Parts: sequence; structure tokens; C-alpha cells
Amino acid sequence: MSNPVFGKALRKDFCFEPGYIPLGHGSFGAIPNVVKQKLREYQDKSEAHPDRWNRFEMIPVIEKNLMLLSKLMNCDSQDINFVSNSSEAASTVLRSYPFKAGDKVLCYQTAYVNVNKALEFIRDQYGVQLITIELNYPMEDQEILELTKQVIDREHAKSDEPRIKLAVIDAISAAPAVIFPYKEITKLVQENDILAMIDGAHTIGQIEVDIRSFDPDFFFSNCHKWLFVPRGSCVLYVAQRNQGYIHPTTLTFAYKHHPDGSDTSTFKSEFIPPTIDTSNYMCVEEALKYRESLGGEEAIREYTHKIAVQGGALVAKMLGTQVLENSAKTLTASMVSIELPPFNTTLKDSEIGPFIMKKLIYEYNTMAPTYKNNGKWYTRLCGQVYVDLDDFEHAGKALLAILDELNKQ
Ligand SMILES: Cc1ncc(COP(=O)(O)O)c(C=O)c1O
Repeated sequence: MSNPVFGKALRKDFCFEPGYIPLGHGSFGAIPNVVKQKLREYQDKSEAHPDRWNRFEMIPVIEKNLMLLSKLMNCDSQDINFVSNSSEAASTVLRSYPFKAGDKVLCYQTAYVNVNKALEFIRDQYGVQLITIELNYPMEDQEILELTKQVIDREHAKSDEPRIKLAVIDAISAAPAVIFPYKEITKLVQENDILAMIDGAHTIGQIEVDIRSFDPDFFFSNCHKWLFVPRGSCVLYVAQRNQGYIHPTTLTFAYKHHPDGSDTSTFKSEFIPPTIDTSNYMCVEEALKYRESLGGEEAIREYTHKIAVQGGALVAKMLGTQVLENSAKTLTASMVSIELPPFNTTLKDSEIGPFIMKKLIYEYNTMAPTYKNNGKWYTRLCGQVYVDLDDFEHAGKALLAILDELNKQ
């Protein structure tokens, strides 16, 4: 289709209940009806003849879907596997890499909570030292690069201590919802002999992913957030030079210890899932077909970015605040962070988010996560093919009314 009609008319293609105004897409994603149908078809196949399907027919379908993803990500399909979600992908890499006690891992305090917990685990279990960089947005990309360089230089100047082994780098962080200069940081850390693990949970379907252009050591992206694939689907890329080190979180028949990271011999077989419903993974093909019918990846990215920027500006104007953005305007993809006006409440910080979000869901039939960054409160709204500017206006009105109530608490 050369002139796709984006906006709320497309909501009928999705599985939403009537009246729901879906602005929280970045949290859990959503699937079109055609993908739901395909999902059910694969589940039916598995039930119709469990032995034939699970023993012989299922794996080639998964591989076909990985092949399609590899084209989308510009990498070799031999270097990717499915896991259920980005939390699992992060744990998979961090828990299997052969760290030695004292090894340092570089990370940012803006990392996603589950990833931070996996980092705490390797600190507590293996004695890895975490070197955490604080980021106070809005920041220019160059500031983040310089800050990171300073920390690497500082740590590597300690000649009697182990060097930094690995860096955990967001591509797009969740809170605040901002694009991170992940390609430049990957280059910087790799120049310093540090492995780069990219948390790209929010990437595929939201921004272009081009693995060959920056050669990360590890990269993962959910497909259920922005690609319209059913929930519980994430692609994990591991560069061949590291594949020998990485084993799935649940070990299976194919497990083999490899002293050499570049031993690729069991990377594919180790990630053949034990008995779970893998139908989600098989829906990449149908999701891509639907996205093609809307005009394809570039057209979708263009619209979702444009509507997020316009919608964010509108809501910020309504609230009398501003969008979280830097001077080069590199922070916003299709999720926009909008500052909330100051409020006066007796509620504790931990109660404010749930107060706002419950009211958005149950009284205004929409959703926007709220969070504190650098001493200010923000809300996150998402552009998507099925939203229009007046959906953002609805959220703006709802937030004004809820903040009014919050001031009375
Ligand atoms: C940056 C980031 N990393 C990881 C995750 C975890 O994703 P999942 O819930 O699919 O494990 C999220 C979830 O929102 C995220 O925003």
C-alpha cells in the first residue's frame, strides 16, 4: 500500500476492547487480529498431532522466522536465537559469561530494573564489581560519551585492579524513555577491550536495527513490544566470537562447556527450547506481512515518531511543561517523556505512580507510566500506527484532572 492510513481507524485491526485508548504500547506491545489468528493456528497444529509437530515440524518454522528477523536486523540467522523476553536475554548473557571474581562490569543507573537485578546477582554470586554511571537527563549524546570515557579511563588507570570486562548499554531506555547513543558507546567500549551487551528491548519495530553496522558482542530485542508479535518473544544475537560462552538460562540436552568463546558448535542447538509453547516465535512472519500492508518498516517508523513528537508537544503544552529532549533532539523515537507540573501531595513517591496509573486505566481508559528522573516527574506516551493526535489530547486532559486530584491528597 503506497498511502497507508495511520491513526485510530487501524484500531479495528487490533484486539483491543472498544473504547480503550492505547498509549502505553511500549510496555507490553499489541498484536493485530491476523497475528492472533496465526498464533491460534500454530497452537492448533501442536494440539492436532503433538508428536509430529514438536518432533519434526516446529523447528523449521522457528528457523524460518529467525531467518526473517536476521534480514530485518542485518545479521546472520546462525547468530540469533529466540528467548521469551529481554529479561531472560539479559540473564542469559550475564549469568553464562565466565566472569572471574573482581571483574568489573560497566553499567548505567538508567538500566531496566530486571537487568539491574541480574547485575546484582552476578555481583553477589560471582564477586563481579559493578561500576555504575549516573545519568541526569536531558543530556547530549556527547556528554554521555565523555562521561563514559572518563569512567573507563579512571578505572583502567588502576593498574592493580582488574579491567572492565563488559558494558551493559541500553539502546532505548525505559525510564526515562530516551534513545541512548548505543552505537558510539559500543565503539568506545570495544576500543577499550570491553565487551558490549546492548539491551535493545525497545528497538525492533521502533528504530532501525543494523547489527553489521556496529558489531555488538551481544544484542537483544523484544519482538512483542514494537513488532506486533505475541507477548513472550525476544531475539538474542551473540557475535560468533562469544557464542561458546553463552548458554540458555534453562540448560538442555545440547549443553556443552566451551573453554573457547569462538566455539560456535552448540549455539543453535542449546537454544532449542524445552517443552513450551513456541507459537509466539512463529508469528514474526505474519506480523511482518501486516506491517508490510501498512507501508513497511520505514513508513511505520516515520508515522509513530511523528505522532509521538506532535503528541508529546501537545500534552506538554496542555500541562504547561516540556518534553524531555536535548538540544540536538536525539532522545525521542516513538516514546515521548513529558514532564509533569509540580504538585503538592502527602502521598509518598512510591504511591504517586500507582495513583496516577490506576486512574488513567480505570477512569480514563488509557495508560501512561509515570516515573521520577533527576528530581522531576515524567509520564511516557507512545506513538503507534493506531493513535491520532486527539488520543494524546485525551491523555493530556486526563492527566490535568488527575494531577488536580493528586494535589488534594
Ligand atoms: C530497556 C528494557 N530492558 C528490558 C526490559 C524487559 O523486557 P521484558 O519484560 O520483555 O523482559 C524492558 C521492559 O520494559 C525494558 O524497557
